[in-house]
Amino acid sequence: MSEEELDLESLEGVGPATKQKLTAAGIYNVLDLVSRGPIEISDVVNIDLSRAIELVNKARVRLVTLGRIEKDFISATELYKKRQTIERIGTGSKNLDDLLGGGIETQAVTELYGEYGSGKTQLCHTLCVKVQTQKDQGGLSSGAIYVDTENTFRPERIVEIAEAYNLEPEEVLSKIIVAEAYNSAHQELIVREAGRFIEKERIRLLVVDSAVAHYRAEFLGRGTLAERQQRLNRFMHNLLRLAELYNVAVVVTNQVQSAPDVFFGDPTRPVGGHVVAHTSTYRIYLRKAGKNRIARMMDSPCHPEREVVFILDGRGINDPPEETPKRRQS
Ligand SMILES: Nc1ncnc2c1ncn2[C@@H]1O[C@H](COP(=O)(O)OP(=O)(O)O)[C@@H](O)[C@H]1O
Ligand SMILES: [Mg+2]
Repeated sequence: MSEEELDLESLEGVGPATKQKLTAAGIYNVLDLVSRGPIEISDVVNIDLSRAIELVNKARVRLVTLGRIEKDFISATELYKKRQTIERIGTGSKNLDDLLGGGIETQAVTELYGEYGSGKTQLCHTLCVKVQTQKDQGGLSSGAIYVDTENTFRPERIVEIAEAYNLEPEEVLSKIIVAEAYNSAHQELIVREAGRFIEKERIRLLVVDSAVAHYRAEFLGRGTLAERQQRLNRFMHNLLRLAELYNVAVVVTNQVQSAPDVFFGDPTRPVGGHVVAHTSTYRIYLRKAGKNRIARMMDSPCHPEREVVFILDGRGINDPPEETPKRRQS
């Protein structure tokens, strides 16, 4: 794919003036047009939504021609073939990998939600190391981007996990790009810019830990709920488009809040309501059970809803030690 084929001005109807406006908004090429989507384009460039839709459609057609994305109507055979290009990143726990059908998928957004200390951040750290290993080790020989909104990214922990896997810690650290997001707008900006890094640095994993914390803190009270959901919705769709466009695995974490109207069962609900839920391809609910952690697959399109046990240790995520079988007396 050449640069000219992705040049904004190569699209019919885009002249130097529009190109300049787009570039000023961080939209540098045809890929960016598609990944940002029409609503955002109409907003940042200040054009009618209908014109923005037209523009994005033209960009989509170009990417279809270039074989970069699928056309809108494809046969199930083609779809099946496309799904064969999905790859997986191992988690370090065989149990958890089984639950996920082999690991965290590319071309999808996986949401990890759970209470404080349930292991969301630990799993994100582990994936940043695992993605760098070779295929037979559960990796994709690629780097990671870690968007840290809660200031919980710890390079020391990466070093510990890398050493546990006999990897060179310095090298592992150098392949993780950390972006600290100070507020929701900054977090959105980082993800908008992420496409270019993904291409350049051979990134196959994008972590946003946490996706919702800033929105939750900034939009307090009922009055602003609609705006919060709208912004969050846009953000989540941006992530999904990045996942599909660049064949990367996107992992977002989410907090839980107690739902006062639930009297039976688990009274916790993920923050962000159906916005995050509907955009995520897979949702995993993590919870503590003494020293163990339990992961449950929630409403996946292709996995049964079930639970597995894993632990947190020096390797990051691991399986619980096998119980030594008691010797039978015969
Ligand atoms: N080096 C380590 N070895 C073993 N367990 C650890 C280590 N570091 C953190 N943990 C465990 O991880 C837990 C925190 O998990 P974390 O992923 O940060 O939770 P959250 O779901 O809030 O992101 C701690 O309570 C501790 O049990
Ligand atoms: Mg955390």
